[in-house]
Amino acid sequence: MKVYKTLVGCMVGCVGIVGVAVAEDGPHDKAIKARQSMFQLYSYSMGILGGMAKGKIEYNADIAAEMASNLDAAANLGQSTFWPAGSDNSNAENATTRALPALWETYPAVVEKGDDLKTATAALAANAGNGLDALKSSMGDVGKSCKGCHDKFRAKKK
Ligand code: HEC
Repeated sequence: MKVYKTLVGCMVGCVGIVGVAVAEDGPHDKAIKARQSMFQLYSYSMGILGGMAKGKIEYNADIAAEMASNLDAAANLGQSTFWPAGSDNSNAENATTRALPALWETYPAVVEKGDDLKTATAALAANAGNGLDALKSSMGDVGKSCKGCHDKFRAKKK
């Protein structure tokens, strides 16, 4: 019985391994994954802060300050290797990405959008721990800067 289970396990497992071996990674997949992980951090922080601002999560000054400081730190990460030429969504070799070619074609317009975010997250980091109203007053600009960049440089979800 043990042998049988092992065999079934191997059949399932081996098919998986063959599948991975066949699907070769594209040349920019690591950079794509790195930048998407950065955005996941943005999103995680904003989820908690937004939840507090909307009253869905109880306001906690320490957590709000920590989340805003994390977001500000993430917004200030060095990104010079995150966006190699050819890592846009028109290149079929790439892992799934929603980065539009416009990001490279209109460079450095995207840098301005990144700077807008940094300005907004610095204000948020200074205010988030000073009460719910202070948090709320700084959330709008952050949200606007996320959207401002996505509207221009991120493809809509399919
Ligand atoms: C300077 C431009 C810019 C700013 C500012 C920006 N984004 Fe993005 N965002 C992008 C681009 C481009 C992508 C697509 C990246 C890809 O798929 O390779 C993206 C993707 C994402 C994703 C999907 C990540 C994944 O796993 O595929 C999330 C979530 C996200 N952004 C959240 C945010 C939030 C929240 C903010 C604001 C706090 C923000 N972004 C600010 C440009 C920006």
